[in-house]
Amino acid sequence: MQTRININGVITTPEEARIPVLDHGLLFGDSVYETLRTYDGKPFLFSRHFARLEHSAAAIDLKLPWTKSRMCDEIQRTLFGGECRIRLMVTRGVGELAADIETCTDPAVIIIVVPLVTLPARIYEHGVDVVISSVQRSGRLADIKTGSLIHQVLARREAKAKHAFEAILLTSDAKLSDGITSNIYMIRDGRILTPAHDAGIVEGITRGVVLELARQMGLQVVEGRFDVDDIQLAQEMFLTSTTREVVPIARVDGKPVGNGKPGPVTRMLLQKYREATERLTAED
Ligand code: PDD
Repeated sequence: MQTRININGVITTPEEARIPVLDHGLLFGDSVYETLRTYDGKPFLFSRHFARLEHSAAAIDLKLPWTKSRMCDEIQRTLFGGECRIRLMVTRGVGELAADIETCTDPAVIIIVVPLVTLPARIYEHGVDVVISSVQRSGRLADIKTGSLIHQVLARREAKAKHAFEAILLTSDAKLSDGITSNIYMIRDGRILTPAHDAGIVEGITRGVVLELARQMGLQVVEGRFDVDDIQLAQEMFLTSTTREVVPIARVDGKPVGNGKPGPVTRMLLQKYREATERLTAED
């Protein structure tokens, strides 16, 4: 598989790529990141991803070493032909063997580009199985994308063991939050219900586009705090993320959502989302 890596402006291969072992990104998960994809070979909604990266960095008191335009140029330089998946990371950099950010002076920028693997059409046609995770969404800092991802690792392992495509994490007071790496939605009586910011979600870039499209379609959007029991009342459910777009959820913990098939609202939103990607590729 073709993979290109850019470390602090130097493009290299996975075999050659090196980061120092005393980088606090490695020692403490002290880093922030974004996952982007290309459409038409162009990083999609780069400005929105960069704004979220800035938000994450500010939340952990990390100064981004590059400007937005340098970041964009370096990503462009690292891309190769075909659609790509891009992981953009900024680590705290090398410091002492103590969780003390003041010992680190030079944050490192790491850009990893791999070919984009899209989901097979049957996933969108039939929907997926999702489980409720036993792993809790950690409260504070839940809305920022840091490299401290052990919760996601454990939730993914559990979901895989149950042959589920994705898992929904709950807050400490048992409210629906988001998926391991996705946002979730329920459709009930023509309204679209989705966990609000204070349910410990990451404000997905895809979520922003999808909610805008939903409003344009005349759907009422309710961002709130929901219980696991609310799922039984949903006629449809779906999840969204950058690399997966809009994925229908057929079952949660083995129980069908609605009639267990992708519903009309979900299918319409997927279609509108794909149309919107064509329009939005013009946006930087
Ligand atoms: N994940 N919620 C969480 C917890 C996420 O990690 C992500 C993104 C999302 C969806 O955000 P977006 O629509 O901007 O992709 C929601 C990326 C894909 C990742 O972790 O690689």
